[in-house]
Amino acid sequence: MAPLGRPAKERAQRPAESDLPEPVRLGPPRKSDRNPIRGEWLWTTRDGSEHDLWEELELVAPKSNPRVLDRALVVSHPLGDYEPTFARQGFPIEGLAFGEGDALADSAAALVVRALPLGVRFAVQAWVPDTDDGNLGAGVADALEAAVCARLSANPATSARLASTDSLRREGGHLIQLALDQPGRAFVGGTPLVQAHSPFPGGRARMRVGAGKPSRAARKVEEALALLGAQPSPGESCVDLGAAPGGWSWVLLEKRARVIAVDPAKLRPDLYERRGLRHVQESAFTFEPDETVDWLFCDMAWRPLEAAALLAKWARRHWARMLVANLKLPMKRKAEMVIRLREVLAEGGWTRIRMRQLYHDRDEITVVAARG
Ligand SMILES: C[S@@+](CC[C@H](N)C(=O)[O-])C[C@H]1O[C@@H](n2cnc3c(N)ncnc32)[C@H](O)[C@@H]1O
Repeated sequence: MAPLGRPAKERAQRPAESDLPEPVRLGPPRKSDRNPIRGEWLWTTRDGSEHDLWEELELVAPKSNPRVLDRALVVSHPLGDYEPTFARQGFPIEGLAFGEGDALADSAAALVVRALPLGVRFAVQAWVPDTDDGNLGAGVADALEAAVCARLSANPATSARLASTDSLRREGGHLIQLALDQPGRAFVGGTPLVQAHSPFPGGRARMRVGAGKPSRAARKVEEALALLGAQPSPGESCVDLGAAPGGWSWVLLEKRARVIAVDPAKLRPDLYERRGLRHVQESAFTFEPDETVDWLFCDMAWRPLEAAALLAKWARRHWARMLVANLKLPMKRKAEMVIRLREVLAEGGWTRIRMRQLYHDRDEITVVAARG
């Protein structure tokens, strides 16, 4: 496999330590003495989380040879079934397109044709890393996507197979990604949409919120439910731990679920008028449900290991079927923390655990899981 392109930039800083009990000593993020090669994965993160992803991969899959390529970009060997928490999006690299304007589009379109399995429908998404510098190229990415699609529409070998991401969601197909990491160069690659880390360009899931929804909280829970691919049905029972001021409960009530909102703090006054809501004004650590509920939601501002231990107790006691939680991360050693959090939840009996730092998450992660 031949090296692609010019030498990559590398950050030499060591990920910071935290107060977790048993420190894991890692060296600095591995120096990249070569560029990514075909078949390796390009990952993108929230700006500033690239070292957390590097550290997560060093701990979970040291043989994946993770390297920080630049801000918000990490490269590794394939990870098998492991879904990295700190990655928003990722794909296996087919090749690197170079050039300006038409030359870049020609080069990228040729790589798309090479990356596509025979006869498969596909959609194309171009994106930039979510950094101040990267976002300056957002318009160029849109233009590249349009120019590459125009070329593929004009090519008899691909024209009938080009589709939108929405239609791939319904009927399946390949998601091709073009990642512009610097002017005049784009990584190209793809996977079947069902295996994609995220269906959203660059993993930026911009959730629409209707009028009256408290904004970020509502977007967080909507994005979590999109990750899960399921949501409460009308009449299903939900417990919302750390519910105040009530954004998540509001979203669940809109879905016509029944909600027990648990929080010592008061909810937004208008929520008390909603049918289907009961506010239990006490700590989540003393609350016990009268019967098993369908869904456990948790967005409590609390130390993550203690919050995870509480969620594990809910699984152990069979108090809920499904879990959607947002866990706050410490300032340091975040990767070690997410690994430990997963263990605590699994020990409690939660299965199909998926953990992600989603687009609407800040220093926090979203967890979705099921019991049994
Ligand atoms: C980030 S806010 C939750 C926002 C909420 N999800 C929303 O959509 O409006 C965190 C909440 O956790 C609550 N909290 C902190 N400790 C708690 C505890 N022991 N039990 C229940 N709630 C707690 C706080 O009162 C606060 O309202």
